[in-house]
Amino acid sequence: MTDRYAVFGHPIAHSKSPQIHATFARQTGQDMTYEAILAPLDGFADSVVQFIAAGGRGANVTVPFKEEAYKLAKRLSPRAQRAGAVNTLSFDDSGIVGDNTDGAGLVADLTRNLNCHLDGKRILLLGAGGAARGVIEPLLEQQPTALVIANRTVSRAQELAELFGNGVTACSFEAADTPFDIVINATAASLAGELPPLSPTLFTADTLAYDMMYGRDTPFLSFARTHGAATSDGLGMLVEQAAEAFFVWRGVRPDTTAVIAALRT
Ligand code: ATR
Repeated sequence: MTDRYAVFGHPIAHSKSPQIHATFARQTGQDMTYEAILAPLDGFADSVVQFIAAGGRGANVTVPFKEEAYKLAKRLSPRAQRAGAVNTLSFDDSGIVGDNTDGAGLVADLTRNLNCHLDGKRILLLGAGGAARGVIEPLLEQQPTALVIANRTVSRAQELAELFGNGVTACSFEAADTPFDIVINATAASLAGELPPLSPTLFTADTLAYDMMYGRDTPFLSFARTHGAATSDGLGMLVEQAAEAFFVWRGVRPDTTAVIAALRT
């Protein structure tokens, strides 16, 4: 019987995940389907339970349900535990298992696709919400010399810095004013077409500015480019987190390069 997978979100119509996973499945010869499911804002858990009853084997979870998915999971991978959020669910006889592949997806995109190695680098992470928290541990594993979290609400950045330790520090946007090798935008500002109040001195010709959002030239990317930085949107992260989820479910690693190229066109 064909195995069923899905992505749950609200909204979900825009999701590229069905297309990405269909390509992975074709590429690797896996017998599976993958659909997008619009869960009601107050009905995420019910939707997942219905999907399991209908034979679902696993699911991705996107905005705004990642924290709910964390609570719903009976067991959590260590990386999901540290992220405090779940984007990948697996359903087996033992119940619902939660994982988080977002951070691995970001690191894979930076290191493999963009050839931007993080060891010994100074990283500035903008934002202190769920998106930022999910990538801190995988970034630290790459052994940067500095990881600074800057956020509009500084206390949230401080909480994350204390939670993760390992020399992570926190500040306001305005206080970050020295050059960084990598500046990652994990704020929701790009969604609103807004630019956090960043100093141009963050960027040099050696800086990579990375926006987790994809499909649009954000004010952040355009500001960074104006001040000399190389830039990337988050499309590669989207595909890489999907590939990692695919590996969790199927035990096979799909080739992401062709998928990223196809989505770009
Ligand atoms: P997500 O899961 O996408 O991270 P979140 O937990 O609501 O969503 O966090 C949103 C992040 O974007 C926060 O860091 C938020 O800053 P505050 O903690 O000060 O709220 C940040 N953010 C949202 N809109 C922003 C804007 N217009 N400019 C700068 N930062 C913004």
